[in-house]
Amino acid sequence: MLFKQQALLRQKLFVLGSLAIGSVLYLVARVGTLDRLQPICPIENNRLPLPEPEQIPLRTLQFKRGLLHELRKGNATKEQIRLHHLVQQLPRAIIIGVRKGGTRALLEMLNLHPAVVKASQEIHFFDNDQNYARGIDWYREKMPFSFPHQITIEKSPAYFITEEVPERIFKMNSSIKLLIIVREPTTRAVSDYTQVLEGKERKNKTYHKFEKLAIDSNTCEVNTKYKAVRTSIYTKHLERWLKYFPVEQFHIVDGDRLISDPLPELQLVERFLNLPSRISQYNLYFNATRGFFCLRFNIVFNKCLAGSKGRIHPEVDPSVVTKLQKFFHPFNQKFYQITGRTFSWPRGASDSSTEIP
Ligand code: A3P
Repeated sequence: MLFKQQALLRQKLFVLGSLAIGSVLYLVARVGTLDRLQPICPIENNRLPLPEPEQIPLRTLQFKRGLLHELRKGNATKEQIRLHHLVQQLPRAIIIGVRKGGTRALLEMLNLHPAVVKASQEIHFFDNDQNYARGIDWYREKMPFSFPHQITIEKSPAYFITEEVPERIFKMNSSIKLLIIVREPTTRAVSDYTQVLEGKERKNKTYHKFEKLAIDSNTCEVNTKYKAVRTSIYTKHLERWLKYFPVEQFHIVDGDRLISDPLPELQLVERFLNLPSRISQYNLYFNATRGFFCLRFNIVFNKCLAGSKGRIHPEVDPSVVTKLQKFFHPFNQKFYQITGRTFSWPRGASDSSTEIP
């Protein structure tokens, strides 16, 4: 009899214990998601009178979080959108490039911030004439729903190198914030090549070696007609942008450091966007299998970037690497000078005759 009672008691204690642990885990998981909903106003004059987070009942916040998720899937009703003041806002910051600089990683990592909402797809509004002809309302409709205090960010790396884009963006918003993420130019060019190579291989096509494309076989000099080389001449592209926007409207992100130590780079971006510092080391963890930092939104939800980010580059002849580094060196110097951000990118050789004074 006594034994039976003890067993019953143990059973009850077990059930109660499980319930308690479950509740604690649930609440911890919620902390991360709730944090994303705190009304932070990153850019002055756009603050709407949203209630303070403490005043919003827990259930409402949980519902809103779910609502944003439904909206992303296109499942929310018009009534819900109206009720919660959700809007599709034009971006107040754009990651304009550079292709293979780490644009996707930057966008995804900024999206960890509770005041940031990302446009998931590359919209190619400003660089594609057909899209541009559809007008600004088409562009706005491509944006995700967000709470009014949040800022929307999109990324389309082709913007950086496309002639017409600076003027078009200026016409939309002359005070927009522009983010450019760069990597050491030769590495970026090889990464660019690797992406194209993979595309060709997928279609069972053959492709030239990087060396053949990057070096003009007639002159043995760097082939400046090769797109992967041209894109890495950052200063040339930036100079076109500077005809429309002052340098203060740009922020340069170190794409190499975003790979090895992302948090300090993200904190610099938060400051540039006038956002309170919210992304923390908790949100970023190194995944040894992937060889990259991955994202942690909360205890239950984390993700790494797709496998197409972080490809293995082909070996490149060291003499070609040196030649490219030497070629890029004067352009890099100019880029440092203009932007005020210096990188220790290799100069390729001790010969200083190619330097721009
Ligand atoms: P590689 O594939 O050459 O390694 P983009 O998004 O502009 O196309 O840039 C792709 C690059 O982002 C990748 O180039 C990769 O090195 C870099 N990257 C930076 N942070 C990353 C991360 N956390 N996970 C995966 N790739 C990352």
